[in-house]
Amino acid sequence: MDVIKLGMIGLGTVGSGVLAMIQEHADKIYAVTGRRLVLKTVMVRNLAKHQDVAEVVHLTTDLDDILSDPEIQIVVEVMGGIHPAKEVITQLLQAHKHVVTANKDLIATEGADLIRLARANGCDLMYEASVAGGIPILRTIADSFAADQITEVKGIVNGTTNYILTQMAQQGWTYAAALKQAQQLGFAESDPTNDVQGKDAAYKMMILSQFSFGTQVNLEDFETTGIDAVAAQDVRQATAFGYVLKLVGVARLVDQGIFVEVAPALVSVHHPLAGVNNENNAVMVRGQAVGDTLFYGPGAGALPTANSVLSDITTVVKNMILKTNGNSFNRYSQALPLATPAQ
Ligand code: NDP
Ligand code: HSE
Repeated sequence: MDVIKLGMIGLGTVGSGVLAMIQEHADKIYAVTGRRLVLKTVMVRNLAKHQDVAEVVHLTTDLDDILSDPEIQIVVEVMGGIHPAKEVITQLLQAHKHVVTANKDLIATEGADLIRLARANGCDLMYEASVAGGIPILRTIADSFAADQITEVKGIVNGTTNYILTQMAQQGWTYAAALKQAQQLGFAESDPTNDVQGKDAAYKMMILSQFSFGTQVNLEDFETTGIDAVAAQDVRQATAFGYVLKLVGVARLVDQGIFVEVAPALVSVHHPLAGVNNENNAVMVRGQAVGDTLFYGPGAGALPTANSVLSDITTVVKNMILKTNGNSFNRYSQALPLATPAQ
């Protein structure tokens, strides 16, 4: 039986979901790849916190246990943040490990460099989970819009803020109580500042822009406004006038280049985005040929995000098999280096 051994950096919300899926969906994964996935080594910060899984994986705080293990061919990075995640992924790629990550902060800001490095080392770097959690939006844009010209991509791409706004509107919760619950449910980042200030959504819009328009947009190039100044009264007034308050990101082709913005918006109750509640996300993609399309699903949480990570892992495994035949069908891991600077 062919076995593929994996490493993982991080065992929090997403890492735990990945471990559970590898264990519980082993037969399905084998059916689609012809390989058994074994999560061999997991790097964490605090070993004592994770003793419950010490019997099924090798826990370590030393990256070298993964880097110098020739059996480990694919590594999942779910530690988050830009540093030291960038340095960790750099070392992994230099050691010729394929990398799958959920890290939008890193991919949005440093993705082009990392993908060049991956390409130079003959590795895949995949990041479906970095945008809209469980919605397979990056592979959809890369595959299904390959021949169309996208003119706009718009949506709700942060689960935490959507959860907060939903609870404030529908349950009358305070902002603070809703944020606390979003943290407890594992939707928020370990430091939720980027969620509530719109930066997490901005990172995702940067990645979506790169995929949709082949253009690299920097955080400083566009306006980002979060929901941290939204009051209960704002939410109530929106409802009274037939609107729902949502944190909406947009990236649109305009005459001068690309327009990008993340901001709270009053969405008519009749608009498809108005019904996107709790941690769910939705991404509307407008193509010149196809017209308007809508992709909906959970935007955060352990198993939905793990599903995107596992879909990337299975793609890497299939690529590994095909590469041995001198072929590869990796569809999107090289999308970012094609990006050109914003105009
Ligand atoms: P958590 O905070 O729940 O988990 C982070 C994990 O990384 C912890 O196990 C922590 O170890 C480990 N870690 C952090 N820093 C280090 C370090 N320097 N060395 C070793 N281990 C480290 O994060 P999430 O699982 O929520 O998120 C992980 C990534 O996935 C982030 O990039 C996030 O943006 C992204 N993501 C998250 C989603 C979600 O719903 N939560 C959805 C989509 C993407 P320890 O446990 O020992 O402290
Ligand atoms: N904190 C993020 C969110 C996780 O709430 O959307 C998913 O990227």
